[in-house]
Amino acid sequence: AAAAGEATAATPSAASDTEGGGAAWRRFPTDFVWGVATAAFQIEGAVAEDGRGPSIWDTFSHVKGNIYEDANADVACDHYHRYEEDLQLVKQLGAKAYRFSISWSRVLPTGVVADGVNEQGLAFYEQICRGCLARGVEPVATLYHWDLPEALEAEGGWLKRSTVGHFGRFAQLCFERLGRYVKTWCSINEPWTQCILGYCFGSHAPGRNVKPGEEPYLAAHHMLLAHAKAQEIYRTLKPKDGRLAMVLNTEWPEAQEPENPEDQAAVERHKVFNLDWFARPLYDGDYPPLMRSRVGERLPRFTEAEQKSLKGSNDFFALNCYSARYICEDTAWRKWQNTAATLRILPYIADVPLQKLKAALASNKTDEGSTGEEVPVGGPAQARGLPATSWITDAGYETAVPLDAELTATGWPVAHYGLARLLLDLQRHYAPRGGIVVTEAGAAFDDDRRGAAGRRQAAYLRGQSVALRRAMAEGADVRGYFWWTLMDNFEWSFGYSKHFGLYALDVDLTRWPRAEGAEAFGRLAARQALAP
Ligand code: NOJ
Repeated sequence: AAAAGEATAATPSAASDTEGGGAAWRRFPTDFVWGVATAAFQIEGAVAEDGRGPSIWDTFSHVKGNIYEDANADVACDHYHRYEEDLQLVKQLGAKAYRFSISWSRVLPTGVVADGVNEQGLAFYEQICRGCLARGVEPVATLYHWDLPEALEAEGGWLKRSTVGHFGRFAQLCFERLGRYVKTWCSINEPWTQCILGYCFGSHAPGRNVKPGEEPYLAAHHMLLAHAKAQEIYRTLKPKDGRLAMVLNTEWPEAQEPENPEDQAAVERHKVFNLDWFARPLYDGDYPPLMRSRVGERLPRFTEAEQKSLKGSNDFFALNCYSARYICEDTAWRKWQNTAATLRILPYIADVPLQKLKAALASNKTDEGSTGEEVPVGGPAQARGLPATSWITDAGYETAVPLDAELTATGWPVAHYGLARLLLDLQRHYAPRGGIVVTEAGAAFDDDRRGAAGRRQAAYLRGQSVALRRAMAEGADVRGYFWWTLMDNFEWSFGYSKHFGLYALDVDLTRWPRAEGAEAFGRLAARQALAP
């Protein structure tokens, strides 16, 4: 029966494809990788132990007002001390792979190899790798998940070309010391997020918004070159079966008015200014032409040698996708004013301080609520007091979610079809060698005493598995799916208030499973049907 199931793996089936029901689950190939993901800064804690140096997120999170409830990650999940227990949780879930990140400043306290390697830091990641393998779990390592060593930031960080070389040497050290355990590497996680939230809005580390029309492009340029440098080095080491990719993120953009050519053009700009900004250099060696024409000389240029090293430097397409958005022309924003929809134009790109946003939302709860001018959660950059020249005006689109959308706790709409559409779009435009791996997807839900969050996770996973199967049946070469995240953790500017974990944490940091979510994940990983 299993063989028959496999045989239909690539073909659309006439069988009923109702959520989670029937035999549709069998259409996942046997080697499809189901994993869970985390990141060093969000879980480890132990920020001053065993020689770790500070990172930009240590600094940023300790500035009052930057993080919800002024939380920090000094302790986080205390994973640094509890990693054996946590790897056991990964195993108990039934995950085939575990994606974690390496804290650069734990391994290199100043970020610089020449300043000395912190052997205790490296040993920690070696333990993680061994712990995974001992449990039959594949370790997948991310080299950079937003936590730049503070010492490098002091020299200009991602705005400086020298950071590219430092990253290359850090990557080389990791390849040499952990390469016998790790076969799948992620270079840089979500460069878009750090470039836009960190250098345009200033709501993430390093918290800059002084030149939002220049710095995001410069930081992105150096991140792309850093990825290419790492890949150059990795390939000279000739890793057997090894692969490396940059992790890109986007929501699926849908035209607010599908027949409106202005909205269609805005959708195109969304794609170009989010995903293609990074993906085109990785696949073709240069930025998308539309981006060049809108940004002009503020967009840096690659030399011919750099283009060559970028082109083809992704060994698979690593995608993070959490949601979908309606997109419209930015000048059309006025049409949203004075409607409750304005309240929901938002905040993945949390471009207003969270507290301000929360207050605005609290004072405007009703659907007929008028937001008027006092709620600056959308609209042309100038209306938000942002400089006229910025990534926002370059991209020139607005995002919104429909009033009737089911929202997760972060305010992101549940839109499984968006994942399917995006996967097919990527397949069509990039046909990526090595296939597509969803390196992160997930959702935050609020808990109640009856396990509501776990139940909603299970439903979410059902929807996602249907989206994956549909996309695969129509030709998307999807090889794996990693749930964000193993356990509740430090959700950046949201502090500890958003719960994405298949495990929850008590105040004393005891881990407990969100039973229905954890169980649903386990069934998918075991290629068992999900309960309808
Ligand atoms: C993407 C990021 O990579 C991760 O760090 C974050 O926690 C999740 N999205 C959820 O927001």
